[in-house]
Amino acid sequence: AVQFLLMLVFAYLAGSVSSAVLISQLFRLPDPRRHGSKNPGTTNVYRLGGKIPALLTLVVDVLKGTIPVWTAYFVGLTPVMLGWIAIAACIGHIYPLYFGFKGGKAVATALGTMLPIGLDLSGLLIFTWLGTIFLTGYSSVSALVTVLLAPFYTWLIKPQYTIPVAMISILIIARHRSNILRLFRGQESRVWDKGKINE
Ligand code: G3P
Repeated sequence: AVQFLLMLVFAYLAGSVSSAVLISQLFRLPDPRRHGSKNPGTTNVYRLGGKIPALLTLVVDVLKGTIPVWTAYFVGLTPVMLGWIAIAACIGHIYPLYFGFKGGKAVATALGTMLPIGLDLSGLLIFTWLGTIFLTGYSSVSALVTVLLAPFYTWLIKPQYTIPVAMISILIIARHRSNILRLFRGQESRVWDKGKINE
């Protein structure tokens, strides 16, 4: 139980490292919390600064999910406990302790938490995200389609992780409220029309 609590705290603190903000500062880019979609995440860093800073943001945000879950797995925690560790990392990303509790949407971090489940699931998730972005151009639609399918994929591959994955999916969908509204209003920006987002 002590290990579980410690891992929860560690996951939250790791998730709280707002890589989009730090990497944008490093590259002297506009603050992603105040420009573009105003979301500190890979998509918005790409909008504001292009491929390299976006890729770095993605890698760090994914690791924030992978490292705590992987560590907790080797400590011997149960699948449901691992689910809570994953949620804690995502909550850290969404409500970061060191950045005034104003964070992102936790898509990359959620993916990171699911990578340890297996290469087959990871491959399906990445393929789904890439396929949807290729077809629609909307990062938010790709995230939504991927997290909607994630529990089904998990159920087929490693059923014991279905509930934890579904919990993360619900969190990610709830966090995309503003994107869903923009999509319905026809105001969401595609990744290929950089900078054309409504501020
Ligand atoms: O990764 C977050 C993505 O799904 C949406 O980002 O910046 O378009 O709101 P953004």
